Amino acid sequence: MDREAKPVPSLCQVYQDHFLIGAAVNARTILTHESLLTQHFSSITAENEMKFEELHPALDRYDFQRADALVNFAEQHGMKVRGHTLVWHNQTPSFVFSHSDGTARTREQVLAILREHMTTVMGRYKGRVYAWDVVNEAVSDADDRELRDTPWLRQVGEDYLSLAFEMAHEIDPNAQLFYNDYNETHPGKRERIYRMVKSLLSRGVPIHGIGLQGHYRLGQPPRDEIRDAIERYASLGVKLQVTELDVSTYAWNDQSREVQVQVQDARSQERQAQRYEELFSLFRAYKDVLTGVTLWGIADDATWLDNFPVRGRKDWPLLFTEDHVPKPAFWVVVDEATR
Ligand code: GLA
Repeated sequence: MDREAKPVPSLCQVYQDHFLIGAAVNARTILTHESLLTQHFSSITAENEMKFEELHPALDRYDFQRADALVNFAEQHGMKVRGHTLVWHNQTPSFVFSHSDGTARTREQVLAILREHMTTVMGRYKGRVYAWDVVNEAVSDADDRELRDTPWLRQVGEDYLSLAFEMAHEIDPNAQLFYNDYNETHPGKRERIYRMVKSLLSRGVPIHGIGLQGHYRLGQPPRDEIRDAIERYASLGVKLQVTELDVSTYAWNDQSREVQVQVQDARSQERQAQRYEELFSLFRAYKDVLTGVTLWGIADDATWLDNFPVRGRKDWPLLFTEDHVPKPAFWVVVDEATR
């Protein structure tokens, strides 16, 4: 029987003995992609709706409308929710770090705002969001420094990391607390992430997992590099999750502006399927330590990669076509679960 004629199995059901299958969603895609979401995914992450600037746009104002809609959607359909994200250098309003006249806030003022934000947000979703990316992207990409130079680091100091995890644990002792980052398999950055998490653990800081964002490409990073990163992080005794998986069809340094083709051709779909097979066979092998794999989107008609790194250049990084039909990559991922 060819693939098109087979009934389409539920991805999260075929993976239910392995790990959760998640998708990044937004207030629009829970409507436009509802049937794919409810059939195939057991977890959601808010693409933007739980970021600081979205939830807390002004010092004295919160807006929970869209985040609530996502959490309600998940509950109606028996899905889990990953919270993303509490402490990050992007999409965080300037009032956190400076007064309205532009002068910098003190360390104690920044920490008081963070504590109030985390108490309000984590408190609201207590028992409804099972895991939080407490800190996102704090480690440097450059080999000559450990931590990224951010306002959090400059204005609070290195202990902003331990303080954030301690506050999170105090506010919701049952939530699983993650450190999340990209380029997480790059050997130099991998070691910096490893050292940072190891140092937090050695001081008894409550950190339960590492999120590997997983913004990959057809050929990069190599499988062995991903495996080495999983091994290295797992050796710390924490849980791992792939939190933002997608497989771009463009090479890492391809910044070309011309859109070469308007549809993903069969050859590209097959190459991508092989890549997804390689990835999921690896993930399956580590299912004892890997508790979730979240894709950064649902289907190819709604992906951030259409605007990154080149605005308006079509990409096809996910398991379903623009018309919401399972791609060859979907079928190999399904086959991988039962191999
Ligand atoms: C990072 C963030 C995500 C998202 C992606 C791009 O990986 O963690 O929240 O912004 O970039 O969409």
